[in-house]
Amino acid sequence: MVERPRGTRDLDPAYLARHGHVESAFRRTAVSFGYREALPPTFESLELFHAKAGPGIEGEMYVFKDKGGRDLVLRPEFTAGILRYYVNDLRSAPKPIKLFSIGPAFRYEEPQKGRYREFWQFSCELLGASPVDGDAETIALAVQSIRATGVRRIETRIGHIGMLRAFLKVPKDAQGQILHALDKRDFAKLHAELDKAGLLDVEGTLRDLITLRGGPEILQQASDLLGGVGKDAFDHLMKVSDRLPAYGVRDGILFDMGIIRGLAYYTGMVFQIHAPTLGAEDQIGGGGSYALAELFGGEPIFSTGFAIGMDRVVLASEVEGVAAPLAKLDAYVIPIGDAVRQKAFEIAANLRGTGLTVDIDLVGRGPSKNLDYANLIGARWCVLVGDKELAKGNVALRNMETGDQREVAASELASVLGMDKPPMGGVEFH
Ligand code: HAM
Repeated sequence: MVERPRGTRDLDPAYLARHGHVESAFRRTAVSFGYREALPPTFESLELFHAKAGPGIEGEMYVFKDKGGRDLVLRPEFTAGILRYYVNDLRSAPKPIKLFSIGPAFRYEEPQKGRYREFWQFSCELLGASPVDGDAETIALAVQSIRATGVRRIETRIGHIGMLRAFLKVPKDAQGQILHALDKRDFAKLHAELDKAGLLDVEGTLRDLITLRGGPEILQQASDLLGGVGKDAFDHLMKVSDRLPAYGVRDGILFDMGIIRGLAYYTGMVFQIHAPTLGAEDQIGGGGSYALAELFGGEPIFSTGFAIGMDRVVLASEVEGVAAPLAKLDAYVIPIGDAVRQKAFEIAANLRGTGLTVDIDLVGRGPSKNLDYANLIGARWCVLVGDKELAKGNVALRNMETGDQREVAASELASVLGMDKPPMGGVEFH
């Protein structure tokens, strides 16, 4: 027996049915906001992420050399790849540019429920919008995307990393280490890093700041704590949150000065979406505004984006009991005897051509074994093709739920089977 690599999963049909609903809700919502899909490669040059992802992700990357000796990395996220693509190919495209991607990403993390080494992201980037409009639309799109999956119990927390950066007047590396320690709530490391940077006097302020979470009043408290630093940031956050009701986003929005984010490229507004129904790994999405284009050789461009962990949304949709039934097989075709096999395959192909889902005996079982099999795989109908009925242009049609069987004209099969076909899905999109 060969074991699966740690932190990976075999995604079964029931899981993928749910995953598929989540994916189509995301795709539909992004497209409804004017986004178009783009997909960077699964592996990239190490230099794309090296020293840009920050200390949080750097140690978690799957890094390898190919046979040509190139240093490569399995993408830990999509944003850097999309910004590389923008700088390479899209610089002169009309602004703003709105792109989304869906696919697996890879991080060497300690696996647990909701945290995997291969996981799926829905990632959106908005390049070249004005800051208030861009930040507000990004948050609204993230929230509406999750709502479209049927998941309701979420909380959106909005903060601002720019005001923290302005407050921590130290070189970028030291700043990155301090922010990383704050993000992880690793207070021993925070103390050591502040000590190294000669900033021990602000340790208490930082620890107080990250506990502030609530309505607009906490922006004033934060401003007071920081001695007036970051006033512009707080004004910006107010304007962004004032815009959200126009998108139908009214509930479950909080300001949170403890949102630091794991990736190092954020420069302004940052936000996270949490699902309180999930245990420890309750962060189902996050993002913010960032500066990456200039690191890849482009002009600075106002950029905001987010990614949602699709696996965590699937888990939340399960916990909330969002319906996601597996599509049933419409018909299973049973040839009775070798003489009619060719005709039975034709009937199956014709039914498929009308959009029905159809399977047919491929092992040459007898009729009663075939009926048992059709029961096991959950077929709605069995089409029994025998020479006596065929001579009249008919087949026998068996309702697998009731056991009723009757003769119908082969030419009418598709319309009879199509009539009671249940609608697909179970998730309402609105
Ligand atoms: P991130 O916060 O690193 O941001 O990841 C986004 C989401 O991916 C997380 O909120 C979480 O739901 C999910 N996720 C992360 N790691 C795992 C894992 N090991 N297993 C399962 N789910 C996971 C980004 O990736 C940024 N690129 C978002 C962004 C786009 N910022 C600007 N544009």
